Amino acid sequence: TERYAVFGNPIGHSKSPKIHAMFAQDTAQSLTYEAILAPVDEFAASFKEFVSSNGRGANVTVPFKEQAFALCDELSEQAKLAGAVNTLSVMANGEVRGDNTDGLGLVSDLERNLGSLAGLNVLLVGAGGAARGCVLPLLQAGIAKLTIVNRTQTKAETLASLFAPFGNVDVLPIEHSGQSYDLIINSTSSSLTGDVPNISINTITLKTVCYDMMYGKEPTAFNLWAAAQGASQTIDGLGMLVGQAAESFNIWRNVKPSVEPVLTQLRAEL
Ligand code: ATR
Repeated sequence: TERYAVFGNPIGHSKSPKIHAMFAQDTAQSLTYEAILAPVDEFAASFKEFVSSNGRGANVTVPFKEQAFALCDELSEQAKLAGAVNTLSVMANGEVRGDNTDGLGLVSDLERNLGSLAGLNVLLVGAGGAARGCVLPLLQAGIAKLTIVNRTQTKAETLASLFAPFGNVDVLPIEHSGQSYDLIINSTSSSLTGDVPNISINTITLKTVCYDMMYGKEPTAFNLWAAAQGASQTIDGLGMLVGQAAESFNIWRNVKPSVEPVLTQLRAEL
């Protein structure tokens, strides 16, 4: 059988094997999907060994997305701009193609929850790898304007200049208070430590939807704060996780699995 896997370090708690097993069952595809722990500086060797024993494709997570990017023979436009690869595919000629489905996973989850994103005024909080991966998909989803803020503002400026050719992208100081938004996306890792980025309460109105890329059994620190400020809706990143997996599965197998039942199951098991 054709093998797929997720590579990471650590990898023990990855939900990807469970997600892809459910996708395979849902779409009647015969494949295996396992979790592989690669040594931190030997991702390429580990992936090569996997390919030589029937590996057809892989997801890549922390800390290997840049190493995966570096080993590809071919890259999607989105992977090039993200500067990182989360999906590797072994092509018929043996060459390796890299994609990045994280941003599409976010956009598909947003559209599942909100409908079309066309015309929305969006605030993106954070300017690290997670932020970079979602800028192009957000712009391509037809949002009116993306404002990027970050604790370290220079990083937001670098990100904005990279994506300026693709749409309306702006940078403001993180604590600015003169504007509100339709949608605020927290891409920072602040919720991991229970912190909330210091954006102004004036960015949130009763119509604002807030999305945290983090998730957990309990609402994230950012979403708790946003709800307390009166945000109309708060959404966590579990759907983004399932969404990126669905996009990867589609790249490998050319069939789109249903996200909803998998998300319901994962939510129940948090
Ligand atoms: P990732 O790949 O998850 O985006 P990263 O590239 O290390 O990880 O980026 C982390 C992001 O979270 C950065 O935007 C970081 O802000 P700085 O660039 O100023 O470091 C942001 N971040 C992390 N912890 C934060 C906190 N407690 N408050 C605000 N921003 C935080």
